[in-house]
Order: sequence, then structure tokens, then C-alpha cells
Amino acid sequence: MFQKLQQKWGVNHRQFWIIFIVFGLTGTTTAILTRYVTAWLGMDASSFWVWKLMVRLGMLVFGYQFILLGYGALLGQWAFFWKYEELLLRKLGVLSQKSKIKNQNNSLEPMAKGQQPIPNSQSPIAKGQQPIPKTQLAIFASGAGSNAQKIIEHFKNHPSVRVALVVCNKPGAGVLQIASDKGIPSLLIEKERFFRGDTYLPVLKEYGIDFIVLAGFLWKVPIDLINAYPQKILNIHPALLPKYGGKGMYGMHVHEAVIAAGEKQSGITIHFVNEHFDEGAPVFQATCLIDEKDTPETLAQKIHVLEHAHFPVEIEKIVS
Ligand code: GAR
Repeated sequence: MFQKLQQKWGVNHRQFWIIFIVFGLTGTTTAILTRYVTAWLGMDASSFWVWKLMVRLGMLVFGYQFILLGYGALLGQWAFFWKYEELLLRKLGVLSQKSKIKNQNNSLEPMAKGQQPIPNSQSPIAKGQQPIPKTQLAIFASGAGSNAQKIIEHFKNHPSVRVALVVCNKPGAGVLQIASDKGIPSLLIEKERFFRGDTYLPVLKEYGIDFIVLAGFLWKVPIDLINAYPQKILNIHPALLPKYGGKGMYGMHVHEAVIAAGEKQSGITIHFVNEHFDEGAPVFQATCLIDEKDTPETLAQKIHVLEHAHFPVEIEKIVS
């Protein structure tokens, strides 16, 4: 159950437990503060129940949220809880449903009409030589983002490739914090708009995106996007395709299925993306052995090791 929740939130193990602690501390603190506030307002057993209820509801609706943000910030999880609050405010209709894009300073401002896109950075050039524009990479990810992190680190100061954008569909996902820490702008996308096909194309174009990598991105890529980036979208899958691929086969579900089938080996597949889940042309595979003691969790760790070692390097080969 915990693992499902961790996957849903898109956070790593450590973050998950911190978030749990924050929720716990917030609940307790709100309960204690509510008692103090009602006492401070002079309320007791004889007070009119409607007033008491209103104070309690007020504390629950407003106090709780502030305390949550406070503990979240104190324990280093501001990004997660801020996104959590944003989502809540959007659901309540307080914030507009429009997707926000982080600008280069990572402020949560929508990219204003007419605003200049980030210029393509260029490789350092010798005197008199023409500058070579860098290939601009977008990483699509929905989870903890360990692969995204490795890719960003690999291409830091790279002469011809630059990670220009992180695209994510899950508010509060670990990958958003990674992007922010690394100074990479991020774009939070919404399901309905994404599946309309080409809605996000103009944004990708504004960022000058030349190539897309899916690093733990779980939505099917719409055909309009595939057509706009022919043979320019790569995915990593945590198994040896064509086995254990297709709809519903992602993350821990893959490892659970592999272990349940009693496989002796698993691995990773890097492949181009087409209109079918996990069916595009494969470009690379690497394997690891499974022993009897392996569980889905230990297999996931082995797979991550393979992914981190190979994905950035394979991207570099293909993009170059
Ligand atoms: C990775 O293992 C990746 O292969 C998998 O999600 C994980 C993301 O981990 N992708 C899929 O299952 C796609 N079908 P990360 O967020 O730590 O990079």
C-alpha cells in the first residue's frame, strides 16, 4: 500500500516518510491549536455548538493548510506541499485550471503572451568560428525523477546538448524538485489538454525543443506529438521488451510481474516512441540477473542501476 502511494506521489522512499511525518505533525498540531483557540475565545461546553463548529472548521480548512506548509517547508518538502495546496485550490476553483509554466527563474508564472522564449544556448566557440546551436532536450517524467536527474547531470556543460525543459504531469512529483534544484524550467501539464494532441506543441517550440526523452513518463504520447517529433522521442522501459510492456506495465507493476513469472533475468529497453505503448523500435537493451532472493523492490534497484548507467549515454549517442 505504501509503495502504491509512493508511486502515486512520485517521490522517493525518504521523501515519502518525511511527507508522512509532516501530515502526522500537522494533524496533531491542528488539534492542539484548536483546543487553545476555542479556550482563548472563551468557549466551553455551554457555548452554542454552531460557533464551536465554525471555529473548528475554520481551523481545519485554513489553519491546517498553513501548518502543513510550515512543517513541509521546515522538513525540506516545500515543493511537494505547495503543489498539494495548489491542486487543492484549483479543485476548489480558487486558482484557474490553466497550466502554469515555470520560467527560467522557476517562478510559477504562466509564460506571458509575447514573452521571449529561452534562446538556444550555444557551445563555446573559437574566434571567427560559427556558433553551433545546442540540441535542446525536454525530459518528460512523472515520478521521483532519478533518471531525469542523471540525464540533467550528464548533459551539464555538454558542448552540444542542453536539457531545456522538464515536463511533468504530477503536481508534487520528485522530478519537479530536482528540476528546480538544477535550475531547469518545468512545465506542469494537464491530462485533458495533453490528450487533445498538439496543445503543448507551441510551448515545446517556444523552448526550441529538438528532442524528447521519456524518463518514467506514464501517459501515452498523442500522435500529434509523435508526428511533430519523428524518431525524436525516446522512452526507457524497465524490462526486456517485448515482454512485460504495454498498458498498465510501468514501474513496480513491471517488476512484480517479472518476479511472479519466475524470470531468471530482466533488464531495460530504450526505444523510440510510436503510437502504441512500448512498441517503437528498440535501440538498446541491457540485462541483469534475478536470483531467488530478489523481490520486486530489489529488482527495481537493479534496474535503476542499469538505467542510470546507460540511459544518458544512449541518449547522447542518438542525439549526436
Ligand atoms: C523507471 O524505472 C522507468 O524505467 C519507469 O519508471 C521508472 C521511473 O523512475 N518507466 C516506465 O515504467 C515506463 N513504462 P525515476 O522516476 O526514478 O526515473
